[in-house]
Amino acid sequence: MNTPVYPVRWQNNRVLLIDQNRLPNEYTHVEISRVEDMARAITTMIVRGAPAIGVAAAYGMYLGARDLRTTDRAEFLSQLTGIGKTLRATRPTAVNLFWAVDRMEQTAANCAGTVAEITEQLLVAAQKINAEDIETCQAIGAHGLAVLPSSPEQLCLLTHCNAGALATAGYGTALGVVRSAWAEGRLARLYADETRPRLQGARLTSWECVQEGIPVTVIADSMAAHCMKQGLIDAVVVGADRIAANGDVANKIGTYSLALVAKAHQIPFFVAAPLSTIDFSLRDGSLIPIEERHPSELYQIGETIVCPPGIEFYNPAFDVTPAHLIQAIITEFGAFPPAEIANLQHR
Ligand code: MRU
Repeated sequence: MNTPVYPVRWQNNRVLLIDQNRLPNEYTHVEISRVEDMARAITTMIVRGAPAIGVAAAYGMYLGARDLRTTDRAEFLSQLTGIGKTLRATRPTAVNLFWAVDRMEQTAANCAGTVAEITEQLLVAAQKINAEDIETCQAIGAHGLAVLPSSPEQLCLLTHCNAGALATAGYGTALGVVRSAWAEGRLARLYADETRPRLQGARLTSWECVQEGIPVTVIADSMAAHCMKQGLIDAVVVGADRIAANGDVANKIGTYSLALVAKAHQIPFFVAAPLSTIDFSLRDGSLIPIEERHPSELYQIGETIVCPPGIEFYNPAFDVTPAHLIQAIITEFGAFPPAEIANLQHR
């Protein structure tokens, strides 16, 4: 067993983030002591992946709170709302960010003590969100194992993007299911879509697999249908950034086409995500805000410009997979058909 991967860690009064933009070539940490730096780290994807963004934002709330200079409770709470606003503006799609900021604001509002006591409670709350996410992912891994196809004995799974330890507080959602399958001897191989344009599959998922000795094959996104037709894939497992009440799922761009080709080949398609990724306030996936990122992610590879000047780009970072293409949504409370996900609201 290798050293566990913790993308967001509280240590010596500041947050340590694994710099995910530098992986796999460099494994380095960035120290974050101020909320503005945390906001920038989320926007620039030093930290990324829905649950990890939530954990980072929770610590960001504390970092901002501890720098406030007022001792007046009402003023403190009002300025905390401003800090929340800064963090909420970083990335629009992953609902875990908003969930974590809401929870931190609620913690502050519910604490009847002094400003110093509220601030202390905010750190406790952020650490709790951090610790809970690891347990949640382990539960997702166990529930996922129970719904994977029972044959063949050793499965070839396909995933998209990175929904691993790096995208959570540790362990991972989709990759948590893969890890659990590997630990139980049920995994033959993981196929990882490279995940254009930011290559989370090629850079991050494969890196995590190498750390754990999980056999991994990286394919270009366009190869998934071909691999399925060749009988190389037994099931698909992906993560989620936001799930609407009807079970529609927003995840990394390319997930929708993967679900369509899985359906065409009668290959089960699973989504693994914690309850904090479900947005019960949204009727369906058409209401999920989709982040659009800078066109340079498309026209530039490393230092090289790969497109001619004078053309237009469209770079949505996520798409929405309709519920009917999904066999089950695997949560910490079990695996459910998408149509039943709304029943989890009061857990
Ligand atoms: O743009 P990213 O890298 O933050 O997108 C990440 C994904 O789409 C993941 O699949 C999703 O957040 C689930 S992570 C457990």
